[in-house]
Amino acid sequence: MMSVTRRYYFSASHRLHLRDLSERENEELYGKCNNPFGHGHDYVLEVTAQGATDPFTGQVALRRELDDLVREQVLNIFEHRNINLDIPQFKSAVPTTENIALVIADLLREHWNAFISSQARLSRIHIQETDRNGFEVLIPSTTRREAEENREPETAGVHG
Ligand code: NI
Repeated sequence: MMSVTRRYYFSASHRLHLRDLSERENEELYGKCNNPFGHGHDYVLEVTAQGATDPFTGQVALRRELDDLVREQVLNIFEHRNINLDIPQFKSAVPTTENIALVIADLLREHWNAFISSQARLSRIHIQETDRNGFEVLIPSTTRREAEENREPETAGVHG
């Protein structure tokens, strides 16, 4: 089994704030990340595909296909956006990087088969938010068929 990891970059802004909490509670919970006018990050996204190396191409997955998938389904949606306001999944979920990672993993799984022609599967995504904060979603190993039949996207936590 072989893995290939591609790295991508996007910049976006967010604010961590729960409507159910008071201003003071939000400030205690999220600190500077609760700043009313939001703040930006230069996120580094790694996408890992795992599978057998194709004997003909010598590759696990075609870089171009991975790039097209990530650009069209993730980067075009997140790049230079206000995550709280511009991305529907965060109308109700707080845009922590944990939740951003779950939403991105879900988008990639949803569109994977339409872009990736090899039998490679999505096995991991990692988002580096700052030098010190990194977040990872590991997607358990199942066959592609099982994955299609039992797809249970873990969704970002909802806060009313
Ligand atoms: Ni932040």
